[in-house]
Amino acid sequence: MGNTNVTTLHKPASAQYPIHDLISHRWSPRAFSDQPVDQATLKSLFEAARWAASAANKQPWNFIYATRENPEAFERLAAILVEANSVWAKNASVLILTVAKRGEYAGHEYTTYYELGMAVGNLVTQAVELGLATHQMGGFDKAKAIADLNIPEGYDPITVLAVGYPGNHETLPETLREREIAERTRKAQDEFVFEGSWK
Ligand SMILES: Cc1cc2nc3c(=O)[nH]c(=O)nc-3n(C[C@H](O)[C@H](O)[C@H](O)COP(=O)(O)O)c2cc1C
Repeated sequence: MGNTNVTTLHKPASAQYPIHDLISHRWSPRAFSDQPVDQATLKSLFEAARWAASAANKQPWNFIYATRENPEAFERLAAILVEANSVWAKNASVLILTVAKRGEYAGHEYTTYYELGMAVGNLVTQAVELGLATHQMGGFDKAKAIADLNIPEGYDPITVLAVGYPGNHETLPETLREREIAERTRKAQDEFVFEGSWK
C-alpha cells in the first residue's frame, strides 16, 4: 500500500475506534505524480466497483474515463470541471466521470444514487490498495458533460474522480498546499448515530 516517494503525504484518519487501514488511508489529495496508471490497474478499479451491491442487482453505475495518454479525451473530461478543480485535477493521470442510470421502478429513484456511491466507495478503497490516490469532485458542468460526452437520456452525471499516483504537495500553489496539509476532521459519532430513534 502507498508509495515509496518520501515527498508523498500520508494523512490516515485519526479514528476513535479501530477501522481497516484501507479506509483510514483513503484521503483526497490535489497533488498527483505524472506516473501513468496502466490499463490492468484501471480494470481492477472498475472491477471493485462492479461488485457493489444494488437493489434487484440493477447495477445502475456507469463510468466514462480518460487517461492523459489520450489527450483529446482527457481534455474533453477536464473541460467539464469548474476552474477551481481543473487547476489541479488536470495533473492527475486519469479522470473518471460517474453516471447513474435513473431509477426504473417506484422506490428506486434515490437508491440509484446510493448504489453509484456504493460502487465508487469500492473503487476508491481498491485504489488505496493499489497505491493510488483519488479525489472526488461535484464541481463540474453537468449540462456540458451530457452534451460533450454523449450521455443518453435517463442518465445523470454525478461526480468526476481524479485518479493517479500521489505527488509532491510542495509543487502545489500556496493556497492548495495549505489545504493539502490541513488536518482531516469528522463529526463525532453522537452527531449522526442514534440508538433506537432520532435524538
Ligand atoms: C460527492 C463529493 C463531491 C466533492 N466535490 C469536491 C470538489 O468539487 N472539489 C474538491 O476539491 N473536493 C471535492 N470533494 C472532496 C471532499 O472535499 C473531501 O472528500 C472531504 O473534504 C473529506 O476529505 P478526505 O476525502 O480527504 O477525507 C468532494 C467529495 C465528494 C464525496
